[in-house]
Amino acid sequence: MVVSQERLASEVGAQVLREGGTAVDAAVATAFALAVVHPAAGNLGGGGFLLSRPASGQPTFLDFRETAPAGAHPRMWLKEGVYDEKLHHESLASVGVPGTVAGLRRAWQREGRLPWARLLNPAIRLAREGFVLSEHQAASLGKQLPEFRRHGPTLAQFSRSGEPLRAGDRLVQRELARTLLRLSRNWSDFYRGETARLILRDMRASGGLITGADLRAYRPRWRDVLRGTYRGVEVLAAPPPSSGGQVLIQALNVLEGYDLRAAGSGSPQALHLAAEALRRAFADRAQHLGDPAFNPGIPMARLLSKAYAAELRATIPLDRASVSAPDRFAWTRDRPDTTHLSVLDRKGNAVSLTYTLEDSYGLKRIVPGAGFLLNNELGDFNAGPGLTDAMGLIGTAPNLAQPGKRPLSSMCPVILVKEGAVFMVAGSPGGRTIPSTVLGTVLGVVDFDLDARAAVDALRFHHQWLPDQLQVERGLPAAVKEALQAMGHALTFVKQQGCAQVILVRNGLVEGAADTKRWPDSGVAVASAKAERQPQRPLITHRNALVATNFKQAERSFNR
Ligand code: DON
Repeated sequence: MVVSQERLASEVGAQVLREGGTAVDAAVATAFALAVVHPAAGNLGGGGFLLSRPASGQPTFLDFRETAPAGAHPRMWLKEGVYDEKLHHESLASVGVPGTVAGLRRAWQREGRLPWARLLNPAIRLAREGFVLSEHQAASLGKQLPEFRRHGPTLAQFSRSGEPLRAGDRLVQRELARTLLRLSRNWSDFYRGETARLILRDMRASGGLITGADLRAYRPRWRDVLRGTYRGVEVLAAPPPSSGGQVLIQALNVLEGYDLRAAGSGSPQALHLAAEALRRAFADRAQHLGDPAFNPGIPMARLLSKAYAAELRATIPLDRASVSAPDRFAWTRDRPDTTHLSVLDRKGNAVSLTYTLEDSYGLKRIVPGAGFLLNNELGDFNAGPGLTDAMGLIGTAPNLAQPGKRPLSSMCPVILVKEGAVFMVAGSPGGRTIPSTVLGTVLGVVDFDLDARAAVDALRFHHQWLPDQLQVERGLPAAVKEALQAMGHALTFVKQQGCAQVILVRNGLVEGAADTKRWPDSGVAVASAKAERQPQRPLITHRNALVATNFKQAERSFNR
């Protein structure tokens, strides 16, 4: 089973599974395909995290987050002493040394089986021969066209001589195909070869900070998986430099003390308690979390302990909202885009991978001659020392820019394990809302017995301490809205939050549910392996997929 944000990419991964590839093989091939068919977030020029849980052996977590170049420093986002948002998010200084290529290679070395080049070939073909743009792909590119116009190579790659591409048009990316071909022969070309030369030429010509030494020094890092439990289910999650696992596990620990099932899915009480748990977890995030290489003292064992959760619960009033102290921490606004993919192979090996360029299309800057977009991930560093203010800047120390440091992330790839076997694989984009989106899917499955489809479709919520507001997707029933407001929650509404890709093993079925909240025609779950070997047609549509030994049961659930 492969669930990702794009049909062509999910199909690439499923084909790898059919050929006997491992879950990691499928994740790597899907990720390279997403770099072609989902350029908003799929990438070569960004970074991310890969959580793997082999059916036998220990789970692993690979951190291939972007890293600040040697020229970075805590005051780098200030111009003449004043914070400059454009410098922080839109300049070449915001580009971190990309980790995706080294990360996918390292994961493949450890748990891959098919040849490396086999995993890149579908992406090369999709880039060279092009693919037909869907409605949402054309709309996404069209929306960014004014931004793309600021950089000739980006405009050339993502338009037809400056005119918007339309649904049904073919997007051909020849330079990207050539880069992928070089990487299929020699992955280190990205850091030491022709691709590195093209990156460095652009950096020198345009005032970027990344040097050849920065590229050569890049290393993905194996990290200890962050572990928690929730109502007897084991939770495997992302450690620093992500805050995803800390926020998720801490919130789950707090919520374990309440009877959410009795409160009911989407009830004012359940939303109130989830918001209060998140409020507290996010306050701790801002105080303590950053790249562990620069923050050796993160009190993670305490933050994730059940005893600490009990202390936090004691501060939560059941009938009214707490108040976030505005002078303690504040947050910058979140921007799209990131993407997640979930894979489960026939042996029960699971992979949960989230990677990103930070903003949608990153810096919106194609490396001339190389055909891929640069990230603006260093925008995830705090603004500058002492710059915390009511307007939304943060200046806390753990996440200030420093040479060789990785900016704090919220990405939250998770794998849940029940009775020794994989139970759920999930993750989402959405910046700081990511742990909240993942929390919602976990509560849906564990507390409210939802299937994968319903857990993905459930109304999402988010609270991040400050700004002191409870964000909810549109569609909240009026009675729930009024009850939450009566408790003192300041509600804000968004059309949709995140884009979750969920696999669930339940009642003898493997369910895949892709998120179609953002775009009705995006997000695809593809069942492979066992479904292929069934005499019946494979159970696949663009939203759902099922794999089962008992196909009658599968079809009943599927046709619901
Ligand atoms: O690492 C992070 O948490 C952010 N750079 C992710 C950005 C993101 O998810 C935006 N997506 N919609």
